[in-house]
Amino acid sequence: MQFWTLDEIEQHAMADHEVGEEISPGVTITRRRILQVGLGGAAALLAAGCGMSGQTGVGDPLAGGMADGNEPLTIEQLLAQIRPQATRMIAADRPERRSDESSYLEAVSRLLARYTPEEPWAMRELGEGEWGMNAAARMPPIVVFDIHMQPGATINLHDHRHYNGVLQCNEGSVRCRNFDIVQPDGAPLDIAAGEVPPMGESFLIRENSDAVLTPGRLSTLSRDRDNIHHVVAGPEGCKLSDVFTYFRREARSYGLEWDERPLVRGGDTYEVAWQA
Ligand SMILES: [Fe+2]
Repeated sequence: MQFWTLDEIEQHAMADHEVGEEISPGVTITRRRILQVGLGGAAALLAAGCGMSGQTGVGDPLAGGMADGNEPLTIEQLLAQIRPQATRMIAADRPERRSDESSYLEAVSRLLARYTPEEPWAMRELGEGEWGMNAAARMPPIVVFDIHMQPGATINLHDHRHYNGVLQCNEGSVRCRNFDIVQPDGAPLDIAAGEVPPMGESFLIRENSDAVLTPGRLSTLSRDRDNIHHVVAGPEGCKLSDVFTYFRREARSYGLEWDERPLVRGGDTYEVAWQA
């Protein structure tokens, strides 16, 4: 649900705003707290105990990935662990290696389970039904966001163009529904490469999953699997962590219009269109 490109994130990170700015309708951030971890810092963190033993088992050229273990991770350690595998995955990105993305998301999920965000949250008070997100840390090509949602707050249907994500529930509960674009007959789209139906035309998406996440549960999406989602906070609201990995600098989300009614009663397919 990142509606900015990486360039825009970096511009705003430089400013470290204290005053609110609407990043999408109804979503205002009052303070952006970006922790920039440089490459030297990442190397030092790895050398200081987040070593490369206990490989995650992903294949070459992703070999030499993230360490296993159970000890808690700071956000710096989390990023230092993830980044080497992320950069290898992106460098090796080809259609025949798309399964690498699944292995990567599984490894990120195992590490994210060991991370607890700092309190207090550097985020404004949210009004009834609102949600907000705060960029907690950035180590290109990865950005980690803290997300707060008031009870019933909704992050409307959107995609994740050129980036993947791991969303973890830390407090409360959240309903997460994931969808994929139904491929057109005859000319399949390379959705992972950003090929999608054109703006201004309706198309179909199919619901793959509908899950309520509670603390410790998470949801992953890749560039061409579960890439579209709709997120609604439970009755007690929720706090979430989201790890985004960007394959291209122009990566960002695009909202979708829908009427939330399946094509046929009880069905799993919906007609949608990109928001103008
Ligand atoms: Fe999202």
